[in-house]
Amino acid sequence: MVAEHLAMSAPQTGQALTLDDIVHRYGSALAIDHVTLEVQAGELVALLGPSGCGKTTLLRIVAGFIAQTSGKVVVGGRRIDELPPNRRDVGIVFQNYALFPHMSVAENVSYGLAARGTDKAAARRRVVEMLELVQMGHLAQRQTRELSGGQQQRVALARALAIEPRVLLLDEPFSALDKSLRLDMQIEIKRIQRSAGTTTLIVTHDQEEALGMADRVAVLSHGRLEQFDAPETVYDRPATFFVNQFVGSANVLAGRLEAVDGERAWVRLDDGGALWPTRAPLASAALKTGSAVVACVRPENLRLDAASPDDPATLGAHVELGMALGATLVHELRTGSGRPIKLSEPRSPGSQARAVATPVRVRPVAPEAVSVFAAP
Ligand SMILES: Nc1ncnc2c1ncn2[C@@H]1O[C@H](COP(=O)(O)OP(=O)(O)OP(=O)(O)O)[C@@H](O)[C@H]1O
Ligand SMILES: [Mg+2]
Repeated sequence: MVAEHLAMSAPQTGQALTLDDIVHRYGSALAIDHVTLEVQAGELVALLGPSGCGKTTLLRIVAGFIAQTSGKVVVGGRRIDELPPNRRDVGIVFQNYALFPHMSVAENVSYGLAARGTDKAAARRRVVEMLELVQMGHLAQRQTRELSGGQQQRVALARALAIEPRVLLLDEPFSALDKSLRLDMQIEIKRIQRSAGTTTLIVTHDQEEALGMADRVAVLSHGRLEQFDAPETVYDRPATFFVNQFVGSANVLAGRLEAVDGERAWVRLDDGGALWPTRAPLASAALKTGSAVVACVRPENLRLDAASPDDPATLGAHVELGMALGATLVHELRTGSGRPIKLSEPRSPGSQARAVATPVRVRPVAPEAVSVFAAP
């Protein structure tokens, strides 16, 4: 979404970042469980996952603030594990900003430049440029403890970008910004990242942000990498039931795997015995015919048919609630056994929600829109 606003020139001056079989334990607690991630030079990768899944831990390992229990961190073909944080050429925006409290805004932004021996005039120009970028120029002389959360966040961004890092690590960098500034900053980060070719890892709770900004998305759960793919692939073809549940919303229907033939499979739903064609379960799941499965389909990938004639590929239900929400029409249905199903479709002028209690039949828009996983 954001990417559409941007020029696609990418000089690729960044460096590839490889996390090779990283494990991290805090005492006996396993926080990172054998994560391997290869980020290409100039690529923007979003780390997505629930609170406590290890996102910040992973960033801190790359930055050098904590030492992993085992595994390697490689930038541009060189191991950086042994280097102290200030020699890794990594820019980081922490989840809690972590500005230097006894310094002004401008001093915070110029700190990394001075440490790298940038000459004073050039450093001053760079500070002005960065503060303008984050719309903080007017507060350059302010002490950072006198700033709001959103202002501190912008200073932290300016400070990380000022040194033109080889790798940029952003931990919830926009969480304190309001919507329009957030969008501005998303576009700006993307622009800088593209034009400088900075390899970037961004942590965000906001799925739209992750899916919109990232070249690829890494989904983590309990310290494990569940899927690492393009945003569309993560959304359309979730690799695991966890990813299916965590990214976007999906209806989950229990059934049995009836047959598999190449890319296609058929699931007999417990509800009403409908037989749905689906995409074949992933080979890694190794599901046998007859095993208990769940068929998962997003609300926008279901279609409503009239109640008759009976078609085995459709599931019987009735309307529980229908809402016209401007551009979309949303229906909440109930199956015979009382299971709720959500369905959404684009609304055209004059199209009305169906009345409560109307009997309907439901089918997926295409077999590829239905993912099959072992019953959890
Ligand atoms: N210093 C620490 N000592 C012990 N355990 C820790 C420490 N820091 C984090 N943990 C634990 O490690 C796990 C991963 O934490 P981490 O901060 O990486 O999660 P996160 O994905 O960044 O979560 P959030 O989205 O809430 O920021 C959690 O279970 C957390 O409680
Ligand atoms: Mg965190």
